[in-house]
Amino acid sequence: MDDRYLEPFIGYRLRADVFAANGTHLLSAGTRLERGHVRLLQVNQVVLRSKDVTAFSAEQEVSIKEAVSDIRHVFQSAVSGRKLPVDYVHDRILPKVLEMASRHAQLIDLLHLLQGKDEYTYKHTFAVGIISSIIGRWLGVRGQDLIRLTMAASVHDIGKSGIPSEVLLKPGRLTEAEFDLMKRHTRQGYELLLASGLDERTALVALQHHEREDGTGYPKGLQADQIHFFSKIVAVADVFHAMTSNRVYKSAMPFYDVLSLMWEGKLGAFHSHILHVFIKQIMELHIGKSVVLNDGVPGKIIYVSSSAPLKPLVNRQGEIVDLSREQQITIREWL
Ligand SMILES: [Fe+2]
Repeated sequence: MDDRYLEPFIGYRLRADVFAANGTHLLSAGTRLERGHVRLLQVNQVVLRSKDVTAFSAEQEVSIKEAVSDIRHVFQSAVSGRKLPVDYVHDRILPKVLEMASRHAQLIDLLHLLQGKDEYTYKHTFAVGIISSIIGRWLGVRGQDLIRLTMAASVHDIGKSGIPSEVLLKPGRLTEAEFDLMKRHTRQGYELLLASGLDERTALVALQHHEREDGTGYPKGLQADQIHFFSKIVAVADVFHAMTSNRVYKSAMPFYDVLSLMWEGKLGAFHSHILHVFIKQIMELHIGKSVVLNDGVPGKIIYVSSSAPLKPLVNRQGEIVDLSREQQITIREWL
């Protein structure tokens, strides 16, 4: 392994204690990695992965947990009162989503924190709010529009508050009848948001986030221009987070595999410009990160092109490899 592969981890905090192969305790959970720590890990040939570290402080992790619990409160209030506690969402949840969205460089790290299958619906809601807000900014959405998009994304699945938990949390595949019931969360969310005094544009995201460009989505089978721009953004964020998370019925997939499936159109027809910007930007966040290629040789991402964002240039131990040209070389693992 390249001696420098651990360098990108400097400044990150360890999530758990680290041990050498012989069982010796090397570093404690919570340690913020400095050069000396990295050297210690290298000497002991410890392999770190991005999921082993976090860019967030302990306080920030607490605030993320609080946001998830605030969202649980919103869902429960929606069930009992049949209305969204709008002020609560505005005052407690929206600022946290916007704050997290401003840390977009740590997006993948944040996804690790919001991945667990317990409380999935609430974590997912928080993550989709954050990711949609980030995509919005990447697309040039600003000011009040960005706040509106973030608000809409943060309540996009509120209609699930009315779906029975046997269906919502069913570990296996849904029957057709159950899936029909699940699909109702779009209309129910729309109605609930309008009844709570939110504007049509916000409510439309709840209604349309499962619509697809080619008319294969639900509930109405709308196509392209019939779908609001904000709904198209939330559609991308929704599928990306769902696929990269552990859910009751499916394990998480690595982010790169999900991006590849989305790029190939295998996860539905998304708005091509939104998808392209999303993939390119996510890949650019990985410049400088270490990977292992399919020949087992480690490398570092050095450039992401616009035409083939999922096939970056990789520095393979001093040799520059263009994955868009060398089709037989692929990325096997992200460290
Ligand atoms: Fe949904």
